Amino acid sequence: MNAPGHLDAAQFKAAMACFASGVTVVTARAPDGTDHGMTVSSFCSLSLQPPLVLTCIDASATLLPHLLAAETFGISMLSASQGALSTRFADQTIDRFDDVAFSRGATGPALLDGAVAHLECRRVAVHPGGDHHIIVGEVLSARVLTGSPLVYAQRAYGRVAPLPVEPRAPSDGS
Ligand SMILES: Cc1cc2nc3c(=O)[nH]c(=O)nc-3n(C[C@H](O)[C@H](O)[C@H](O)COP(=O)(O)O)c2cc1C
Repeated sequence: MNAPGHLDAAQFKAAMACFASGVTVVTARAPDGTDHGMTVSSFCSLSLQPPLVLTCIDASATLLPHLLAAETFGISMLSASQGALSTRFADQTIDRFDDVAFSRGATGPALLDGAVAHLECRRVAVHPGGDHHIIVGEVLSARVLTGSPLVYAQRAYGRVAPLPVEPRAPSDGS
């Protein structure tokens, strides 16, 4: 074990990569009508009542100021066939929305076609989290579409593969 405060960053990253997650594209619409979005796997459900989710956004991400300016944001949970879209929304060299099909949520954010589920959220809190910001959103609408989710683990994309069901132990007759 490293001395406190001397954690090996590469080991930390490698350990965290073992935690499988889904992949989302978080979107916000700027006041001038332009769409902004990025790939985010640090996303989870936070509360049922009220319905809250949270997402962790790098303080240097170009999306952050748009998320902080807009009242609402969108979450598109990507499907297993959308690995390329995940890579696209993490690419700094392209117009991410070019040729990408989406619908618009009632409050404005883009919601990507082909996702397994869409959420539309109202930003209710922002907390500092080291070099990231924790954005808390109240879920205004949730829509389940079709398909199975994209999974990201150990720096690779995959899909959910249910384990075979274990045979039940035979009854002891009592
Ligand atoms: C699968 C995957 C998951 C990611 N998850 C996050 C995340 O949870 N939070 C984050 O800030 N960046 C995450 N990123 C990185 C951003 O998508 C990437 O750095 C993006 O280029 C940042 O946007 P910007 O270049 O417009 O600042 C992820 C990237 C990938 C490919």
